[in-house]
Amino acid sequence: MRILVTGGAGFIGSNFIRWALSDHPQLTVVNLDALTYAGNLQNLEGIPAAHHVFMRGDIRRREDVDGAIGDGVDAIVHFAAETHVDRSILAADDFLTTNVLGTQVLIEAARRAGVPRFVHVSTDEVYGSLAPDAPAFTETDPLEPNSPYSASKAASDHLIRAAFHTFQFPAVITRCSNNYGPYQFPEKFVPLFVTNALTGEPCPLYGDGENVRDWLHVEDHARAIWAVLERGQLGEVYNVGGHAEMTNRQVAEHILDLAGAPRSLIRPVADRPGHDRRYAMNPDKLERELGWTPKWNFADGIAATVSWYRTHEDWWRAVKSGAYRDYYERQYGGRLS
Ligand SMILES: NC(=O)c1ccc[n+]([C@@H]2O[C@H](COP(=O)([O-])OP(=O)(O)OC[C@H]3O[C@@H](n4cnc5c(N)ncnc54)[C@H](O)[C@@H]3O)[C@@H](O)[C@H]2O)c1
Repeated sequence: MRILVTGGAGFIGSNFIRWALSDHPQLTVVNLDALTYAGNLQNLEGIPAAHHVFMRGDIRRREDVDGAIGDGVDAIVHFAAETHVDRSILAADDFLTTNVLGTQVLIEAARRAGVPRFVHVSTDEVYGSLAPDAPAFTETDPLEPNSPYSASKAASDHLIRAAFHTFQFPAVITRCSNNYGPYQFPEKFVPLFVTNALTGEPCPLYGDGENVRDWLHVEDHARAIWAVLERGQLGEVYNVGGHAEMTNRQVAEHILDLAGAPRSLIRPVADRPGHDRRYAMNPDKLERELGWTPKWNFADGIAATVSWYRTHEDWWRAVKSGAYRDYYERQYGGRLS
């Protein structure tokens, strides 16, 4: 089996490739990634080269996507996106061109090449914000995105849905809750707090810290995507979640305790504009129809994650200093802008 993964140098894409190749040694992955600031080839170190073909390219460029599909692939798993809500609030252009237009370029290329299966990796954020006592999101809830990031992801979900409806485009959508685990860019909540806690730096907590998120270990997300890739029903949406709702303050305190740092490092900062109050996912459909269940509980998963960052200081220090950008030059002899 040969699959094309987009955005495979990012956090979830690289974890997915690592997990998929260890679980399916016959698999070959073509990895198309533009290496934006969020793409890091060091996330892919140690992955067997015979089964992993990296291609630097942009999903917004038809020729790059056609080149990556080449003579054909058995499936496309689409992760590539601009993903940081705060950045989307500052400037949304790349979110629209990559998340929306890039997805449409992929749909058209996949249709031209007759790719038989396409998994579109989306997010719980497309559903908007839940009231404190409201039931968790199900796949039939309306899409009510509240940030430029989630609006662009919702738009891409709609394009996938429209392609299925109009052309029987063989796609399945996954919508997952917040992920944590190795190789996450340290601008995001968990790795930012872990790495700051390890170095005794302040940990900035938005607003009153009572925003609720539903947490899932990235490896469980990878397993869910694989189940959907293999057995998901075309045209369907599958929610992915870990039954692990927690306030940001609870997660922050957990991390500081595990890192052996004082809770006084938590520093409240002005809230993010339009900050969604609560997300929670109901993954019943995925569990019932495809037999997926999470393997990690939050306590074990976050402990393993803190321990990973503790033992991979070189990785996150290179990201924080910007040195990770030089790795591409050493490997491929070109400069990253
Ligand atoms: N992180 C989460 O908690 C979470 C939860 C649910 C869903 N998702 C979704 O999962 C996917 C991956 O998220 P992530 O956290 O790994 O993101 P990430 O920001 O870590 O990685 C994104 C990757 O996409 C690449 N990329 C960006 N623009 C590109 C373009 N135009 N062409 C080719 N490659 C491009 C980047 O170089 C990077 O390697 C996204 O679609 C995101 O919406 C993320």
